[in-house]
Amino acid sequence: MFPKNTWYVAAWADEITTTPIARTLLNEPVVFYRGVSGKVSALEDRCCHRALPLHHGDVVGDCLRCAYHGLEYNAEGQCVRVPGQGKIPTKAKVRRYPVVEKDDLIWIWMGDESQTKEAAVPSYPWHGDKGWRYRKNTYLIKSNHLLIYDNLLDLTHLGYVHKRTIGGDAETHFAAKTTTGRTEKGVRVERWMLDSLPPPTYTAAYTFGTERVDRWQEIEFEPGLVRIFTGAKEVGGGAPEGNRDDAYGFRGLNAMTPETEHTTHYFWSAAHNFRIDEPAVTDAIYDNIVITFNEDKEIIESQYQNMQRDPGRAMVDISFDIAPVQARRYWDALNKAEAADAGIEPTAKAA
Ligand code: FES
Ligand SMILES: [Fe+2]
Repeated sequence: MFPKNTWYVAAWADEITTTPIARTLLNEPVVFYRGVSGKVSALEDRCCHRALPLHHGDVVGDCLRCAYHGLEYNAEGQCVRVPGQGKIPTKAKVRRYPVVEKDDLIWIWMGDESQTKEAAVPSYPWHGDKGWRYRKNTYLIKSNHLLIYDNLLDLTHLGYVHKRTIGGDAETHFAAKTTTGRTEKGVRVERWMLDSLPPPTYTAAYTFGTERVDRWQEIEFEPGLVRIFTGAKEVGGGAPEGNRDDAYGFRGLNAMTPETEHTTHYFWSAAHNFRIDEPAVTDAIYDNIVITFNEDKEIIESQYQNMQRDPGRAMVDISFDIAPVQARRYWDALNKAEAADAGIEPTAKAA
């Protein structure tokens, strides 16, 4: 089961046009379209007349017209026209989902609509900040969404999985000074690799004044999202004391939205704050992250395939699992709270 009362990324803003698109989110078929006014709408992807998916239809004004017999739905999911018939049946409507366009992303609320007010849409200002450049992509990962959180919250895997790009030396990662704590909406991890060699991705794009650098990673988890902020600066440059504005900086958006229990939409972007007027540098960083995330994809999918052979089998925890374990507890608490609201027993534990 998935918590539904939270904002999830549904799409990149530039994916949603006047040509409707279909996307399954949390096991529910949804159609997205942009009306001629520019407004983005999300409706249940099933006509109430004879169940044709509405993504076959056409946008008319800010409405969506079914491709079969022409019923038209407005952004609220209400049928507003039945061709050849004056009276519109009172039951002629489909579910609509609240959506918000923000920071080049489309966020969707799949749960109880009365709870949207209390939950602010997450912010990701680096997509619109003139001091940063980014490129993005979306992967469909063949695994449950929780394995991707595990991967992002424990970066000790960098030295093994990503030696060629963002990783570098494995020992550096195990020696990293790491602090983990709960936040209001999730879990935060901070890792420092002081006086260490920068990894290949960094040195390919940036010239440091010293061979060794002070390097840091800040990982913030909240449901649906992991923000990863990383940076490096010359040893002695004052980074640990907070003097980081002029340092090599990287911002990673990782937004995971379950398609099903076994597949996950993974929306990611890579932003940098140096050489921002050189598109070749942005492209080179993106290409490195593509290699990196393909490495993660292979590991996660292979791991999930193995787990599916024997889903109940116990696994062994080690000390680096602190943040993933805390995040899973957070998911469990959300699942339990929603199940209690609905008066049902949760069907599966996240842990
Ligand atoms: S199935 Fe949509 S109008 Fe008939
Ligand atoms: Fe990774």
